[in-house]
Amino acid sequence: MFPVKKIVVYSTMALAFAACQSTTPKEEKKSMDQTAPTATTAKDVHTFAQPDEAVVKHLKLDVKVDFAQKVLTGKASLQIENRGQADSLRLDTRQLTIEKVTLGESEEATTYGLGAEMEHLGQELAIKIKPDTKWVHVYYQTHPEAAALQWLNPQQTAGKKHPFLFTQSQAILARTWVPIQDSPGIRFTYEATVQVPKELLAVMSADNPQQKNATGTYQFNMDKPIPAYLLALSVGDIAFAPVGSRTGVYAEPATLEKASYEFAEMEKMLEAAEKLYGPYAWGRYDLLVLPPSFPFGGMENPKLTFATPTILAGDRSLTSLVAHELAHSWSGNLVTNQTWNDFWLNEGFTVYFERRIMEELYSKDYADMLKVLGLQELKGTVEEFGKDSEDTQLKLNLTGRNPDDGVSDIAYEKGNALLLRLEETVGREKWDAFVKNYFQSFSFQSMNTERFITYLKKQLPGIENKVNIQEWIYGKGLPADLPDVKSVRFEAVEKAVQDWSTGTPAKQLATKDWSSHEWLHFIRHLPNSMTTAQMSELDKAFKFTNSGNSELLAAWLGHAVKHQYEPAYPALEKFLVNVGRRKFLTPLYGELLKTPEGKQRALAIYAKARPNYHFVAVSTLDAMLKK
Ligand code: BES
Ligand code: ZN
Repeated sequence: MFPVKKIVVYSTMALAFAACQSTTPKEEKKSMDQTAPTATTAKDVHTFAQPDEAVVKHLKLDVKVDFAQKVLTGKASLQIENRGQADSLRLDTRQLTIEKVTLGESEEATTYGLGAEMEHLGQELAIKIKPDTKWVHVYYQTHPEAAALQWLNPQQTAGKKHPFLFTQSQAILARTWVPIQDSPGIRFTYEATVQVPKELLAVMSADNPQQKNATGTYQFNMDKPIPAYLLALSVGDIAFAPVGSRTGVYAEPATLEKASYEFAEMEKMLEAAEKLYGPYAWGRYDLLVLPPSFPFGGMENPKLTFATPTILAGDRSLTSLVAHELAHSWSGNLVTNQTWNDFWLNEGFTVYFERRIMEELYSKDYADMLKVLGLQELKGTVEEFGKDSEDTQLKLNLTGRNPDDGVSDIAYEKGNALLLRLEETVGREKWDAFVKNYFQSFSFQSMNTERFITYLKKQLPGIENKVNIQEWIYGKGLPADLPDVKSVRFEAVEKAVQDWSTGTPAKQLATKDWSSHEWLHFIRHLPNSMTTAQMSELDKAFKFTNSGNSELLAAWLGHAVKHQYEPAYPALEKFLVNVGRRKFLTPLYGELLKTPEGKQRALAIYAKARPNYHFVAVSTLDAMLKK
């Protein structure tokens, strides 16, 4: 650990800073408060940064990755713009040890104060600067338990020989590995030097190496301005295989071949996306397959999506996730939600765009299945939250809360449903022109809900008379005019469920040529109560317990728990211990918790599994299992 020097008592600093802020005349402040939030006034409640005083424009990161201590050690140099006569730069930090802070080329020492620890937010790092300060250098070290970082031992990797590290910065975890202004409304370019053990490769959300070098030191550059939640790093025994001229896959050598097969259509997806909504702005698009403890399906780190291996189904059936993360290259990474309350702008647009890509690549029937599955998920979520819950609003209020609480099907599927509704109302041609323009007009900028509504009304005059935008965005529960989505292929599936429920043997059902989406729909529509004999009949006919498709297996295991279908328990335990993807974990543990025996089983499995999970999954599950 660094010796901690030059820490100024925070309260003194806070007083000094408060004094220099109170220069705005009272009247002016009052009138500012009364205006509706706009691009410049909407406040991000999840950051200590005060970008109107001094804002980070470029980050130069120089870190060493220490697997033995599980820490990153080094220096973050921040190029800043002092927007007034500010005498302080305010950064977000959490769990960081600050060694020293210096200013300018000469690296003259300066004073700084670390604020009190705030729940979810961490600590403000307030650094004394001069009006002409251009560079601030922070020497620091991360904590071995840093929330964004997951350090895997060799046993937790596919190759079993080397350790592995990955970051997950969204929503506000970048501050646990870089002292930065961690707000989606603040963008900066970055470059990095990362030193790793020689046998490993480092990759980032930037221009990437395609093979290891002899020194173990890697240089990175991201010349487009990005928000901090898109900072990403991964280190491991990672190899690369090209897919197309602009696309490729990174994975552990043991997984590379399977991954190359699974994602062979990436280049086509990229072309389809560009055809829909304009040129791809980021140069290359690569994908990194992580070990199974990755807590999400995918994360849209610019130039390099991070993805779970649970989408390696062997038949390319789960690649809509790649379309989703690729779509974020426009919705999210180009036009970014300004605060986490506007999260639906990132995810709703991305779900919509994802399904348009899948429609281009496959067919309308295929995209319709995804839409129906999504709408079902939305209905399920509204039921679970309650139709009067504030969390069913598109525009969220996450003040005092963890932005992670806003990650639900509301942002994704209600957001998507609104866009479908708008498309349905104005027609696809006009709608596509609108979306393309939207991405173009606000490239590399942030967007909030109010500004979006203004833009929508201006570009599509009269739209508010046809769609009740206020109700959709600020209303709770399900809007009365949900878009009409139907899937012909699912109608056949529903008939099969019906036939089976009324006595047709499973083996005789018309399931030939079903895609995994049809199977998923089938499993989700199975009756709420089934006997062990019925479960067993299905399992014998369709081998669900042995499915290599994680979506199907997870849905089936949900029934197994609900119906106490013991033959699937070993598979359940194996799945929960190996897979750290939160989307699968919460419903399965949730189902287990419904009975006393289930709870016991859940606790026993969790004791084994918890060390394999990433912080974000652990925090959700700790809260669930403590009750
Ligand atoms: N950006 C999200 C993941 C995320 C959201 C991480 C909020 C942390 C906070 C990513 O694009 C995403 O939506 N992933 C989904 C996959 C998708 C196909 C719906 C996931 O991980 O399941
Ligand atoms: Zn997403």
